[in-house]
Amino acid sequence: MPCIVAPSLLAANFLHLEREIEMINRSEADWLHLDIMDGVFVPNISFGFPVIEKVAGICKKPLDAHFMIVEPQKFIPEVKACGIFQMNVHYEACIHLHRTVWAIREAGMYAAVTLNPHTPVELLEDIIQDINMVLLMSVNPGFGGQKFIEQSLDKVRRLKEMIIRKGLKTLIEVDGGVNLQTGKQLVDAGADVLVAGNAIFNDQNPEQVIRDLKKL
Ligand code: DX5
Ligand code: ZN
Repeated sequence: MPCIVAPSLLAANFLHLEREIEMINRSEADWLHLDIMDGVFVPNISFGFPVIEKVAGICKKPLDAHFMIVEPQKFIPEVKACGIFQMNVHYEACIHLHRTVWAIREAGMYAAVTLNPHTPVELLEDIIQDINMVLLMSVNPGFGGQKFIEQSLDKVRRLKEMIIRKGLKTLIEVDGGVNLQTGKQLVDAGADVLVAGNAIFNDQNPEQVIRDLKKL
């Protein structure tokens, strides 16, 4: 089965957002990945609801939103109102993760849990049955264009084993430093969804990169 490709809007040209989203609409991308940063959980600030609402208004692909913020549970109604289909919250940002996951589901969205590079996948043993997807960060969150952390491949393999052992259908998404080369290694290790920012938006032919990623 071809992998799911989710271009990360963070690497787009924000002066020409409409043009960039039209490219995504034309492309074979499956989802559009949105990176929301608060300057507290991560040392950077990206964009918020006013931008997301406008993007949602013209984007034809489902929106996969990655919240790099503290207390993401506070914004569940606003996230739902934007038309986001899947809300990713960080394991490290949620004290009551089970409650947050169920609040996301009860709001009518898919819930996904994101792990920083240092957080072991084994910590998901008692929540994985309740979520649609695990997002493994293969860079430290906060910035695009960073180098892929090799240890992520082992995490993908261990997580896949856990999912199979439990008889679940949980998706594995990987985000950070993904290109055609690291993407291939990730798919071989068991990743289902590839997020790519710079590898897509900084290429002369982004639609071709998306097609090539889907073939991995
Ligand atoms: C980083 C973000 C990523 C980022 C990926 O904190 O979560 O989605 O945009 O960018 P690349 O693919 O350039 O590493
Ligand atoms: Zn992301």
